Amino acid sequence: MLEALSAHNKTTSESIYSFIEQKEQLYDSLFNNNIDGILVLNTYANVIDANPAMEKISGYTVEELKNLDLISHIVEGDIEKKLYHWNEALQGKPQEHGLSIINKAGKKLTLVVKIIPIRNGNQTIGAFEIIKDVTEAKRMEMMMHQSDKLSLVGELAAGVAHEIRNPLTTLKGFLDLLEPEINSTYAALMQSELERINIIVNEFLFLAKPKEVDFKPNSIKKIMNNVILLLEPQSNLKNIQLSSYINDNEIDINCDENQLKQVFINILKNAMESMPNGGNIHVKINTYNDHISIQFKDEGCGIPEEQLERLGEPFYTTKADGTGLGLLITKKIIQNHNGQLIVKSQVNKGTLVEILLPTR
Ligand SMILES: Nc1ncnc2c1ncn2[C@@H]1O[C@H](COP(=O)(O)OP(=O)(O)OP(=O)(O)O)[C@@H](O)[C@H]1O
Ligand SMILES: [Mg+2]
Repeated sequence: MLEALSAHNKTTSESIYSFIEQKEQLYDSLFNNNIDGILVLNTYANVIDANPAMEKISGYTVEELKNLDLISHIVEGDIEKKLYHWNEALQGKPQEHGLSIINKAGKKLTLVVKIIPIRNGNQTIGAFEIIKDVTEAKRMEMMMHQSDKLSLVGELAAGVAHEIRNPLTTLKGFLDLLEPEINSTYAALMQSELERINIIVNEFLFLAKPKEVDFKPNSIKKIMNNVILLLEPQSNLKNIQLSSYINDNEIDINCDENQLKQVFINILKNAMESMPNGGNIHVKINTYNDHISIQFKDEGCGIPEEQLERLGEPFYTTKADGTGLGLLITKKIIQNHNGQLIVKSQVNKGTLVEILLPTR
């Protein structure tokens, strides 16, 4: 037994020794198989060598990298920082820093860079740079931050809507009391306007409150009418006429009321934002054998062909104050309902957004 063990130890040690003896092979494995990019630089920051991961991140081949002016690829605001860390590394002190660069494809990348001085005795003769591409991770972080902000705004809005409900109840109570004594036309008008505020505030509360998904039979017509009521004040302000055509054989479909409201609002908001000088938005609901079609047609700026395929990408927006989340959320919800979202558009003519939902 002991003999066998010592024989085993011997062979293991031997193989390790022979492996270490082939130091070059060890270095090659570390260099070529590394998932982080590695640059070998001389003290003038010229590239001596680069690994395959570095070629992939930068888009340049090793030969191209050797002739590249690295500084010119650093985003302007980061150049000073890079020079500081590089000079520290040349003093023999390893560094780590964040850096934004533009790669060969013109894409801006966020990197984390480690600089490891290559020492010969007490002299620095160059440096390794180990480079991790964290662009995607950064983007996710930003996305989380944005959605935090969105839910905070939602909470605030719900708070405001809630506070409006109490005085509203008081107003309605006194109006009921006074009704026999005042002009009946005025009283009816005041009642209907109060009812309108009530619906809008309730819609607002309903939307702002995060809810469990709740699929049940609902009338699309009713959902749509409430959404239009909610958006009418805004469309009037913008000189936009919102009109709806709903065929009579409309039937209830299994859906989440809250989510579909969100979808209709997102699409109508986009339509309104595409018409800064006013115009018409037509909403049409048609029921067919196995599906229901909901169309939103605007007379706005339209969407160029090459941008159509980007709709629904997270944070894809052409608006100065847009979040680029509207259509992403819309698509998700329609998918949850086994439906389809179709967008057709002509620049300067307008856009048609159609939702198809199965009726069973
Ligand atoms: N009806 C439309 N007319 C013209 N462009 C549109 C229309 N709907 C969407 N777009 C284009 O699609 C982009 C993405 O829309 P999306 O609703 O996802 O985000 P957003 O409206 O920019 O921002 P958010 O909805 O989050 O406030 C818009 O920025 C706009 O360029
Ligand atoms: Mg939008």
